[in-house]
Formats: sequence, C-alpha cells, structure tokens
Amino acid sequence: MCRHNLPKYVFILAAIGSAVGLGNIWRFPYVAYEGGGGAFLIPYLCALLTAGIPLLFLDYAIGHRFRGSAPLAFRRMHRAAEPLGWWQVLICVVIAVYYAVIVAWAAMYTWFSARLTWGAGNENDFFFTDFLQMGDPADGLSGTFVPQVGVPLGVVWFVVIVIMALGVKRGIGAANMILMPLLTVMFVILVVQALFLPGALDGLDAFFAPNWDALANPAVWASAYGHIFFSLSVAFGIMVTYSSYLKRKTDLTGSGLVVAFANSSFEILAGIGVFAALGFMAQAAQTDVAGVATSGIGLAFVAFPTIVSQATGGSIIGVLFFGALVFAGITSMISILEVIVSALQDKLGWRRLNTTLVVSIPFAIISMALFSTTSALVVLDTTDAFVNSFGIMAVAFVTVVVVSWVLFKLPTLQEHLNRRSSLRIGMIWRLLVSMLAPLILGYLLFSEFQTKLAEPYGGYPGWLLGVFGWGMVALLVVGGVLLSLLPWSNKSHAKDDPGYDEFLVDEAYEPDTETGSVRVQKGAQR
Ligand code: ALA
Repeated sequence: MCRHNLPKYVFILAAIGSAVGLGNIWRFPYVAYEGGGGAFLIPYLCALLTAGIPLLFLDYAIGHRFRGSAPLAFRRMHRAAEPLGWWQVLICVVIAVYYAVIVAWAAMYTWFSARLTWGAGNENDFFFTDFLQMGDPADGLSGTFVPQVGVPLGVVWFVVIVIMALGVKRGIGAANMILMPLLTVMFVILVVQALFLPGALDGLDAFFAPNWDALANPAVWASAYGHIFFSLSVAFGIMVTYSSYLKRKTDLTGSGLVVAFANSSFEILAGIGVFAALGFMAQAAQTDVAGVATSGIGLAFVAFPTIVSQATGGSIIGVLFFGALVFAGITSMISILEVIVSALQDKLGWRRLNTTLVVSIPFAIISMALFSTTSALVVLDTTDAFVNSFGIMAVAFVTVVVVSWVLFKLPTLQEHLNRRSSLRIGMIWRLLVSMLAPLILGYLLFSEFQTKLAEPYGGYPGWLLGVFGWGMVALLVVGGVLLSLLPWSNKSHAKDDPGYDEFLVDEAYEPDTETGSVRVQKGAQR
C-alpha cells in the first residue's frame, strides 16, 4: 500500500481529534480532583514534559521515518521488533471494543438530556438500574440484551465503519475537519455556560485548591503518568500510524507540540467546566463538592444528569456535554481502528474497504455481545483498568527499552526529527526516553502489579479478573508474538513500497542541486 501524503493541517487536526477523547472530558476532571486538585497539575505537567511529549516525538519519528503501520514500522526498524507493533495493535482492539459503548451511552444521554428522561432525583438509579440494568458480578456473566444500549452501540459502529471505509483522506481527514471545530465551539459554550451557574466558583475552588500532601503519594504520580499516555494517544500505535501518512517535509516536533498543547488545553477546560457544574450541584444539595464528585463513570453519567435536571437551561448543558463526548469519542475511536486496519492492510495487501469490513464487523459484534448486556459495566471497568496499566504502560516501557538499549535507534530517530523541525531536540530528549521514562514506567508497573495482586481490583470475583484482566493482558503479549510470525502476503506492498523507497532516497541521498540527480551516501540502508 502506498502511504498517503497528508497535509500538515489535516494531520494536526486528526492527531488532536485522536488525543482529545473520553480521557479528556470524562476521565481527567475526576483523576485530577482525586489526585489533589490544583496540586495534581504538578505531577500532570511532569508526566507531560518528561514522558508524554518525549514519547509522542518518539512515535512520530518511528511512524514517519519507517513509514508504516505499527507492525511494519517496527519491522522496518528491526525485523525482530515486529511483535511490539502487533502488541500495540491488539491493545487498540481491546480499547475499540469497549470505547464504542461509552460513546453509545453518551449518544443516548444526549437524547435523554433533551427530554429529561431520568426524572429529577433519580439520576443515580437511572444510570445503573434503568439504563444499564446492571447485574451483580457475583452471579457470573449475563447475556441478557439491553436494547437501549445495544441499538445505539450498533449505530456508533455503523457510523465509524462508514468513516473508516471512506479512507484516510475522505473519511478520517474529513470527519476530523467537521467534528473538531464543532466540538471546540460546543465545548467553549459549555464551559462559559457552566461558569455562570450559581456555585460555580466553589467548584473551581475544589478543583484548583492544592492539596500538597497528595504530592507525597506515589499513587498520584502513577495516575498522572498512566493518564498521559491514554490521553495523548501515545504508545498504542495511533501516532505511529498517523505520522506514517504525513508528507515527507513536515515539521514533526512543531506539530507534536501543537497537538500536546491542544490536548492539555482541552483537558484543563474540561476540568473547569465539569467542576463549575459540580459546584452548582453541591450548592443545590447544600453540601460540598467532595460530597457530589463521584468516580469516573459516575461523574459523567450521574452528576451531569443531576445538573441537567436542576439548572436553568439544563437541557442545553446536557446536550452540549454529552454531544461533545460523542464527537470527541468518534474522532478518537476512528484513530484506534485505523491502527488495526492499516496494520492488516500492510500485512495482507488487502484493499481498504475489505479490510475495514473484515476488521470492524467482528469487533462490532463482540462489542455488542459483551457490552450491551447487564454485565457491561464490570467487564468494561476491569478491561479499562488492566489495559491501561499492563497494556499501554507495559508496551511503552518495553518499547523505550528496546529502541534505546537493544536497537540503539535513538540517534537515527533524533536526526530524523531534527531534519525539518522548528524545535530541534537534543541530548535531553534522548536522556528522557532512554533513562527517565524506563525508570519511571518500570517503577509504576511494579507498584501497579503489587497493588493489583494484593487485593482484587474493584472487589470483583477472581474469575472475572482472570479472564478480562490478567488473561486479556497475557493474550495481548502472546498474540503480538504470534501475529508477527505470520508471513507477509505476497500481495502486500510493504516490502516494496515505492513511497518508502522514495522517502529513503530523500533520507539517505543528497540531491545534487546542479544536475538534479542523486548521489548515494555511504551507509544508506533500508
Ligand atoms: N486519547 C484518547 C482519549 O483521551 C484515546 O480518550
């Protein structure tokens, strides 16, 4: 498959579209609040500067330099590194399957907000009992179909499949060009509206008031580092894939900084909007914000409906919030699916439409089978917790170690990044990627491992954690190795991609400006 030559602005919009997702709007505000409010911004910024942005640059360099989907790019770096790419692809498979259902919930809640379906005072019960019809995990998995989740879930899959089938430029590029400006406008209106709610300042106070003691807690640092990879879409193949579609002459580090800045701005804006609204809720319930701020899933789907019921113009706040969640979710979801589609296209040499359908339809069926049932919430909670720590953080750790200390590729990648970038990176980037990131990630993985072994996550039964937690994590690694052992199809252009050759000509040969011919430099290699 010849790679695309996406213009930089389309790429930047798509990369921001991928980064800004459920993680920013639904997860960040609560993680920040739990991690010490204003004081959390310190670990957050440290995580962003020491790991998030350096690894974002690493992903860009790998994708752009080796010009392939994650497995192909790693294989081109070194044949034996291909399993790393498939490990990242499989992480995307797991995330895609559960990500879609949260988008589907948000779509239904956009509709419910307009009609105040839950009835005042019943928001908590409505979400868990009436809407999800949640069963007790101790009773085992239940296959009872919940139509109000299953039907919108089917629609979400249909929409993303259509976007994916249209291709990188006409599908992904166009969807981001439409949805991202809409999302930004909706979000700004939402935040401004939330700031005018009575009690908003108390909410902001709770969000920004620093709790310095939290800084001494390693778990707070772990949650900041854990959050930043998911939020920036780093280390699970997305940025490798997207940057492989970029034009050769692109300012990679400059683009990376724009994406990171936009992602963090959205996140902080989301925190401000959500906590202003919680301040209102606390005032209405005559309690403090701590009394109304609940955990991740609860925050969005329980707290916001309460605000919608109580505030003047609540329906508009609800439609803007849940609508923004849907748009942010769709633009991230297509980037997650693109990792899988482009990997299989590279390996099998199939056409775009066929690959999209063969990949997406089975995943849509699995997603609906698992997540439109009464067991959805516990399976989702377990999968999300394990795939973030032992999936994304683990693959990030192994990747930085392999690239830095086994393949010694950092100097090549640094040179590639500096070739046309406005911000030249130096020794500090190499130290962050090769020393600090492995140390921090290694420590965090170890402590996560101890915590999750010491007590069952979420108090869930052992069989559930065994299958959807530890079992799934093991499957990602074993599956990654097995997929790398499958032969590359003869139809695949991956081994002989004219785009890639041309790309390397530019890398390894210096153009002779007088004659227009090229001169071979010693050491040029594929
Ligand atoms: N980066 C995406 C998010 O934050 C996956 O949801």
